[in-house]
Parts: sequence; C-alpha cells; structure tokens
Amino acid sequence: MSTITVHSISNLQAEFEVPGDKSISHRAAILGGLSNGACQIDNYLPSEDCICTLNAMAQLGAKYETLEEKPGYGPTSLTIHGCSMELSAPEGSVDCGNSGTGMRLLAGLLAAQPFESILTGDASLQSRPMGRIIKPLKEMGASIEACGDAPGCAPLHITGGELHPICYEMPVASAQVKSAVLLAGLFAEGTTSVIQPAETRDHTERMLAYFKMPSTREGQKISVTGGKTPEAGRLRVPGDISSAAFWIVAAASMPGAHLLIKNVGLNPTRTAILDVLIRMGADIKAVEHSDECGEPYGDVEVHGKALQGTEIKPEEVPNLIDEIPVLAVAGALAHGKMVIRNAKELRVKESDRITTVVQNLKAMGADLEEFEDGMEIAGGKPLHGAELDSFGDHRIAMAFAIAGLFAEGETAINNTACIDTSYPGFADHLEAILAG
Ligand code: S3P
Repeated sequence: MSTITVHSISNLQAEFEVPGDKSISHRAAILGGLSNGACQIDNYLPSEDCICTLNAMAQLGAKYETLEEKPGYGPTSLTIHGCSMELSAPEGSVDCGNSGTGMRLLAGLLAAQPFESILTGDASLQSRPMGRIIKPLKEMGASIEACGDAPGCAPLHITGGELHPICYEMPVASAQVKSAVLLAGLFAEGTTSVIQPAETRDHTERMLAYFKMPSTREGQKISVTGGKTPEAGRLRVPGDISSAAFWIVAAASMPGAHLLIKNVGLNPTRTAILDVLIRMGADIKAVEHSDECGEPYGDVEVHGKALQGTEIKPEEVPNLIDEIPVLAVAGALAHGKMVIRNAKELRVKESDRITTVVQNLKAMGADLEEFEDGMEIAGGKPLHGAELDSFGDHRIAMAFAIAGLFAEGETAINNTACIDTSYPGFADHLEAILAG
C-alpha cells in the first residue's frame, strides 16, 4: 500500500503545468476512435482511467499508436485510427477500471452496436449507480442488464441494436448521463435530445462540433442527429483544471504564496472553483490564450492570502463537483463558515465524498457538521497532522495531501495508488512543493 507523507510548509512558490484534462481525454479517445481516419491527440492524460478508455476503443476496433509517453504511465501523444462508426465486437469483457466516465460513455456507444458486450470495472466502479444510464438507453431500444452484486450496478451486459431517438429529461445534472445518451444518439436515425436540469460540463458538445458532427443547443436542451461520421483531425488536450485545483487552493490559502499554472483548461462549465475562491477573497487571475479543439485554455496565477468562508450556490455544484473535496479543505482553512449543500451526488463518486471528507477533516481537528447533501464547516480551527485513508478515491488522497501542507506535525495519507487514475505525476509536484 502506498502512503504519502506531508508536513506543513510556510511558503509556496511554483510554476508548472498539470497533465491533460481527464474528461476531454476520454472524449477524444471515443470520438477519435469513431472518426473516419487517423487522429493525433496531443497532451492526452496518461492516467489509468483514460488508458482504460483507449484500450476499450482498441478492443472495439479503433487501435492507437503511442507517439510520446510519460515513462511508467502511458501515452501523452498518440494516433488513434478511427473505425468510421463501425465498431467490432470485443473479445472478452471491456474493463473500465475505476472510471465512471469511461463506463457510462462507452455504454452509450455499445447500446447501439449489433453485438453483445460486457462492461466491467473495479470494486468502486461496481458499486456506483448505472441505472441513470440504463434507463434512457433502454428507452432508446437497447437491452442492458446490471449484473453486479449491488442492484443497478456493473458489470453491465449490453445487447445493443438499432436505436430510436428520444428526448430525455435527465433527473440528475450529470454530464456523464448526457454524454451517454448523445453518443448513443449518433447511431440512431433522427434527432436525439437531452434536457439537463442544470448546466453540466459541455466537453461532449464542444468535441462533437470539433469533429463536425451536427449538434444543437436551445436553453438546456442539447440535440444530436444520427447517421454522420466524425471527421478525423488533430487535437490537443488542455491541462486539467480539476488537477490544478489542488495547487490553486494551496496557494490561494497561503499568505505570501505565488503560483502560476500554464495551459490549463478554462471551459466556463469547469471554472466555478475559481469563482468560489475569488468570492472567498482569493487573488486569482486567469488569462485565456485561445481555443484548443473548441476548448478555451490559459494561465492561472494565484497570490496567497487569508480567505473567508462562503456558501456554494446550488447552480455552482455541478460545475465544481470534483473540486468539492479540496474546496472543503479551503473552507476549513478559511475564517468563518463554509456551507456546501445540494451536493448529494458526492455520495456516489469514487467514494462517498461527503462522509470521507468529513471523516478526514475531523481527524485533522476541523470543526464541521455533515448533512445528507453536504456539510457546514466552521473554518479557522488549526489543523493537526493525522493518519488518514484515501478510501481508494484519488481526489480524497490529493485533497488531504493539500490539507497536510497546512497542518501542524505530519500527515500520512494511506492507499494513494488511486492518484494515478487522474493525476500521474502528482507526487513529483508535491515533492517539489514540499522541498520549497
Ligand atoms: C465527468 C462528469 C462528472 C465528474 C466526472 C467526470 C465527465 O460526473 O464528476 O469526474 O467527464 O463527464 P457527473 O457528470 O456524473 O456528475
């Protein structure tokens, strides 16, 4: 079992890039793999989650070649050979590892194929709700059986076939559900629509446009028309703002700190973390350069100072769902109260992130209360080092490494191999920051 040990620091001066965006890398592998030719993808995220999706596409007939790699991890630059929407039946089951995004998006594709397939994953993924994609995909005509030990959970046995378009009103604000239905819709004759209850990350829509696929948006209704093939092209994935968020919180909360993160994605459906920190009093400037494959990106510069607590607005929650663990750490360090509500979705992520955040913050001496849909943190109580668990959740592991930078004594986070699912190289960046 790998453990990360962190001690407190009094200054943070750093300038670096974070690895490619996880959400965009999954979509690049999927749409590149469906395209009509060879697509070069640069700055691909060589994390376990995204490698699973590349391997899944290879198993389905869209092979890739590595052009550059991060040694010990996987490809950072690759060419994927699109299969022109003609996927082939996989040999054996398709393993999505720890990745909810991989499984839900691939389920959308497989629902439309004239063959049977099985999607599986690790113990955490096999405990996550799949009913949310099974329902709309069944409505489109697929047959999907959830064969897991827990009801509605993976492995998923999919018998795909000809789908018919639907207009699906999503009960949860989930980009994964939206994307599963839209990807299935690419294979259905006619127009498939999804109505989202709130804004969710729009990487699928942007990438569909980049691959010249017909899609439209009216208010919260997003539609695709089936029967077309994505046009192969070259694209570059910007840095992942969800990975950058760990360092942004650390620097923003540390008076005197200075941080510059270059070439990070600034898609407005992902930048609520910056808005919330600025509302807490943080000195953060984001300078946008230009678009990369329809995705805005730029540099984020942070000067540290003492922050104040704030209340997260309901409409902000889907936009910063992955950043809430580290934002809760910022709340514990800030003066005053931080209120996080309307965030029940956190309970069905890689861990139950409400319980795991509350448990670890309490172990470090923070004063907070847990609710069914969030937590309230009375910030400003000094944190002390503790022995913590990641609960197999990469974002919990990294959020508490950041907390350890502010805690008196030593903080040990056990079970940190999961970090490789989203941020290969995190330990190197942490080491550089600890060395000062
Ligand atoms: C993702 C969407 C989010 C997020 C996940 C990645 C995506 O999940 O938590 O890490 O790439 O679509 P939901 O859309 O289910 O909230």
